[in-house]
Amino acid sequence: MNELSRRDAFKWAISSGVALAMSGAVGQAVKAAETSKDSKKLRIGFIGVGGRGTELLKVTLAFPEVDIPAICDINEDHLNKAQDLVAKARGGAKPEGYSKDAHDYRRLLSRDDLDAVLIATPQELHAEMVVDAMKAKKFAGSEVPACETVDECWKLVKAHEETKTGYMMLENYLYSQPVMMVQNMVDQGVFGDLTYGTGSYIHEIRKMRFEKDGSLTWRGENILHNRGIVYPTHAIGPVCRWMGINKTDWLDTLVAMDTKAVSTHKYAVEKFGADSNPAKVNFENGDNNQCLVRTKGGRLIEVRYDTSSPRPPGMGEYSLQGSQGCFLSCFGERKIYIEGQSKPEKWQDMDEYKEKYNHPYWAQRGEEAAKRGHGGGDYFVISDFLDSIRTGKSAIDVYDAATWSCIRPLSEESIRGGSKPMKIPNFKEKAT
Ligand SMILES: NC(=O)c1ccc[n+]([C@@H]2O[C@H](COP(=O)([O-])OP(=O)(O)OC[C@H]3O[C@@H](n4cnc5c(N)ncnc54)[C@H](O)[C@@H]3O)[C@@H](O)[C@H]2O)c1
Repeated sequence: MNELSRRDAFKWAISSGVALAMSGAVGQAVKAAETSKDSKKLRIGFIGVGGRGTELLKVTLAFPEVDIPAICDINEDHLNKAQDLVAKARGGAKPEGYSKDAHDYRRLLSRDDLDAVLIATPQELHAEMVVDAMKAKKFAGSEVPACETVDECWKLVKAHEETKTGYMMLENYLYSQPVMMVQNMVDQGVFGDLTYGTGSYIHEIRKMRFEKDGSLTWRGENILHNRGIVYPTHAIGPVCRWMGINKTDWLDTLVAMDTKAVSTHKYAVEKFGADSNPAKVNFENGDNNQCLVRTKGGRLIEVRYDTSSPRPPGMGEYSLQGSQGCFLSCFGERKIYIEGQSKPEKWQDMDEYKEKYNHPYWAQRGEEAAKRGHGGGDYFVISDFLDSIRTGKSAIDVYDAATWSCIRPLSEESIRGGSKPMKIPNFKEKAT
């Protein structure tokens, strides 16, 4: 058994009213608990319930097997709203709130009635909170990216290995219908031997960088200095999964470049006036940051990040090339070409292959997922998070989280060094 100890299983069976024979009661309780693990209540604490945490709270509440006994946020307004949301959804008492100071989440972590915590605070807080959660023996899920520095990546890996406590990075872009369908096709060898892939996060968020009074939000502070590919995991995560990174191939070296920074300043001038304080802020991070990653197995991955240039919203753009064919997604158009299956030299709409290759997740639960945000990715990322808590086997583990997250600090260092090549660590090698 994984999460449930024999004693817990016995307690669970008694409290659940499972009928036990006089002899072999514990064994039966264990068996009952194992066979009914899907119906066991999962108790999850939330840390950080701003925009994203609240979105994920709503998705989590759609799973009836989850209880939310505790919520932490230093913003009391956000905390109160989240507490009310849970009380309304579950028709019971409000979860206990924690908002005393920036470290009050540690009091939440010290509770003994939580199976897991979900962390959706600003990105620079994730690693410390996850490490603290692991030390408190709570399975942790965090928003993306998991870490801001290479040192934090190693700390995450080390904490996992020392505490033997699980962690899942909640990378929802892995779960959209097209990304999962491509995964299914890759698994069936449809594209042949993979050679090249692109992943990009191009999503204009300039207005999210400023409070109403023009002061900077954490997203504004994020681009004050040259920080490279600030938000790498949506872009590189799907491509790494398709290429079997950390299983059959490993990231090796990256080289990064950037453009000048113009668009956020332009926005500040237009929104707040040329003489305003926001217009005087010097945003150093280039509008477009890009890197090329070479894998040990001889593949290339191109990663692009642009959250400043004006353009309509839409999911990131991805592509994949193999020896047998390719996938291309751009401006919402998704095309496929497979040698031997497609007409010679003709692109096909991806949907023409849907019946044959749709991923089982989407074929079976696509309708339910599509009701949720990020193209349904939010539904499946939470569904997999719950399964990861139950089994202790993470759907997106510390090694993937560290590998995908380290693209930010390494791209920054490469750019600062005149696009110098940076070695990408293999986090499965022993943590130092
Ligand atoms: N996966 C996705 O699609 C997706 C989408 C949006 C945001 N995100 C990520 O989610 C995270 C949160 O983003 P957001 O948009 O919700 O930001 P936000 O600013 O709206 O929310 C962050 C919340 O964390 C709280 N907080 C800050 N410090 C805290 C502390 N020490 N203890 C407890 N609470 C604290 C804030 O008060 C706020 O309520 C970020 O890492 C962001 O990158 C991911």
